[in-house]
Amino acid sequence: MTPIVFVTGGNRGIGLEIVRGYAQAGCKVLMGCRDEEAGEKVKQDIVGADIQVIEIDLSSEQAVIDNITRAAAVYGRIDVLVNNAGVMDDASWDELDMAKLKRSMQIHLNGPLALSQQLLPGMIERGYGRIVNVSSGYGSFAEGMEGPMAYAVSKAALNAMTLKLANEVKEHNNVKVNAMCPGWVHTRMGGRDAPRSPEKGAETAIWLGQLEEDGPSGKFFRDKKEIDW
Ligand SMILES: NC(=O)c1ccc[n+]([C@@H]2O[C@H](COP(=O)([O-])OP(=O)(O)OC[C@H]3O[C@@H](n4cnc5c(N)ncnc54)[C@H](OP(=O)(O)O)[C@@H]3O)[C@@H](O)[C@H]2O)c1
Repeated sequence: MTPIVFVTGGNRGIGLEIVRGYAQAGCKVLMGCRDEEAGEKVKQDIVGADIQVIEIDLSSEQAVIDNITRAAAVYGRIDVLVNNAGVMDDASWDELDMAKLKRSMQIHLNGPLALSQQLLPGMIERGYGRIVNVSSGYGSFAEGMEGPMAYAVSKAALNAMTLKLANEVKEHNNVKVNAMCPGWVHTRMGGRDAPRSPEKGAETAIWLGQLEEDGPSGKFFRDKKEIDW
């Protein structure tokens, strides 16, 4: 069976390397992008791969549902969902306006949950599914929640959703829900000083989507090693 993978925010940075990694592993990849044209352009660089661009903007609830339905129809199913799209609002607690907090929550929590709700029933029915949430150490209680307010709180919510969803589906052995932190990565979000390449940042997300049946679920990883929430 050739796995079919859907990646949000697939047109740049870590997401693009996640798309490339799955394509190179022989998967069929649905590259989720806000801007379809941008996706078609970067797709040209990944030669010989089976990649389809799907327009999806996570900031609109209805659009998320409409577009994931369209994405699932392209190959008839989705086996691996990678919730990678993200935004960093760096306002401090006293400057943060509620619209910005809502936006971070929509992109990091509501969007990934809505996509999971749409795809999990099919994964359960087919007896195979992997959900990979690209989170951050900034949303980790164990690492002190060091990031900016909206970012840290919404990534912590994504971590909570990961564990809760994994617990809810735990009787389905071959359906797994995990989160990962890519480290500090040289992308638009991570900035120029970041020491890691996007390829390195993508590695754990690619590995988690290809876990064997006896692999973990409901865990948080960095560099393919479990870390504390
Ligand atoms: N870079 C780091 O050091 C670092 C560290 C820890 C965690 N992360 C996480 O890794 C993930 C990828 O980050 P990155 O560094 O690759 O960032 P990036 O280069 O800024 O890319 C972010 C991606 O998310 C997409 N996106 C933003 N808002 C969206 C929306 N409303 N709907 C759909 N897509 C949207 C962007 O699309 P556009 O191109 O259209 O804007 C882009 O494709 C994020 O979840 C981030 O929080 C990154």
